[in-house]
Amino acid sequence: MKKVITYGTFDLFHQGHYNLLKRAKELGDYLIVGITTEQYDESRGKLNIQDSLLKRLDNVRETGFADDIIVEDHEGQKVEDIQKYNIDIFTVGSDWRGKFDYLNSYCDVVYLERTKDISSSDRRIARNPIIQLGMIGTGRIAHRFVGEARAVSGITVRNVYNPHIDSAVRFGDEFSLNTATDDLERFFDDIDAVYVASPHETHYQYVKDSLLAGKHVLCEKPLVFRQSEAEELFGIARDKKLILMEGIKTAYLPGFQKLMGVVKSGAIGEIRDVEACFTRLTPSDRREMTDAAYGGAFTEFASYSLLPIIKLLGRDYKEIRFDSIKAENGIDLYTKTSIIYDHGFALAKNGVGVKSEGQLVIAGTGGYILAESPWWLTKSFEVRYEDSSKVEKFATKYLGYGLRYEISDFVTMIGLEDKSKIGYKLTRGDSIVIAGIMEKFLAKR
Ligand code: CTP
Repeated sequence: MKKVITYGTFDLFHQGHYNLLKRAKELGDYLIVGITTEQYDESRGKLNIQDSLLKRLDNVRETGFADDIIVEDHEGQKVEDIQKYNIDIFTVGSDWRGKFDYLNSYCDVVYLERTKDISSSDRRIARNPIIQLGMIGTGRIAHRFVGEARAVSGITVRNVYNPHIDSAVRFGDEFSLNTATDDLERFFDDIDAVYVASPHETHYQYVKDSLLAGKHVLCEKPLVFRQSEAEELFGIARDKKLILMEGIKTAYLPGFQKLMGVVKSGAIGEIRDVEACFTRLTPSDRREMTDAAYGGAFTEFASYSLLPIIKLLGRDYKEIRFDSIKAENGIDLYTKTSIIYDHGFALAKNGVGVKSEGQLVIAGTGGYILAESPWWLTKSFEVRYEDSSKVEKFATKYLGYGLRYEISDFVTMIGLEDKSKIGYKLTRGDSIVIAGIMEKFLAKR
């Protein structure tokens, strides 16, 4: 019996998939189809998958060509499967030509002609018209953002706004954007969504203006510096059925999601302590160091450190205390934030003028998790126990600067019919609590 195997995502099942499976089956007597998990696809840069794994499985099963269906969830699995199932032929579409030649040492590799003019990507775009995005702000993060947005299907960066027209024009030219302007009305004219990456203290007004103009908003962290402002903005978004999302990129990374999943599965018991450190020595001429009102370590980096704390210990803390070492102009060079909960503690450490080990340690009643620097771009972490010989290691990739995952979620959420079901990765409530903590910190400073 000749055994054939093929793999794919099979999202929004189409004729190209059908033809491929039919011809794959004709290559032998028994066909195994491997279907990728969403996490695996994300880690290799295929974002925006629309159908659930179950639906994709059902669609493949309904063709009647598959004798067996398996799930592909990690790199290297193809080699394992081919040996495990005694495969004679590995096959995929011709868009992959050459990419799987390395499997020739295990079985025959056949590239089948791809069906022309149809793909899941095209269908995703046809389903939801491409979101036209405008950017407010042209700084470092804005530069990275454009490249990352280009890796996500369903969204295109169209306009840029900066009150300093020269900066806007320079940015618009660099990325060949449609409109580069210092006029907000003109900026809003032909876009659906806005990415706010302006100086922190201007976020509130720009987000509000954008929402009132009927635009979905992805705003860089920290969203705002007052809890009431966060509540007001989310209220406007809800009333106008718009998406408002805070861009704490860590929250959307596949690796961080995996970490959350492992903790929530109870691997280390009840969580009693979370320590999250993020420091970056910053040159003295940067805004973080010179802006006496809103610069400093806490406003710059605490969003990252507070994220795992709020996600794991919750929003109902009992006490919070900030201890800072300050520069002459009053900004905090280093801040330790201690948070007390009924059943646990947390410590966030952030520095722009003090360097420390940037790690995340989550301590539980049955063990602990260690994610080393840069845990905010989560790639790997370890689960450790009392018995130090027992260590479980987890690793997940992310691509580019890691911003594409939040952009992809933003696109998905805009496409949702019921926009009140905003994502679980970073909820409105999470962003509101973080804004409240920012407010307490600034009031104390
Ligand atoms: N395939 C094909 N003809 C098409 C589209 C896909 O033969 N028009 C094949 C692919 O080469 C692969 C299998 O179908 O062997 C599953 O492809 P998948 O990546 O799931 O589908 P695509 O439509 O290529 O998806 P995307 O646009 O997201 O890349």
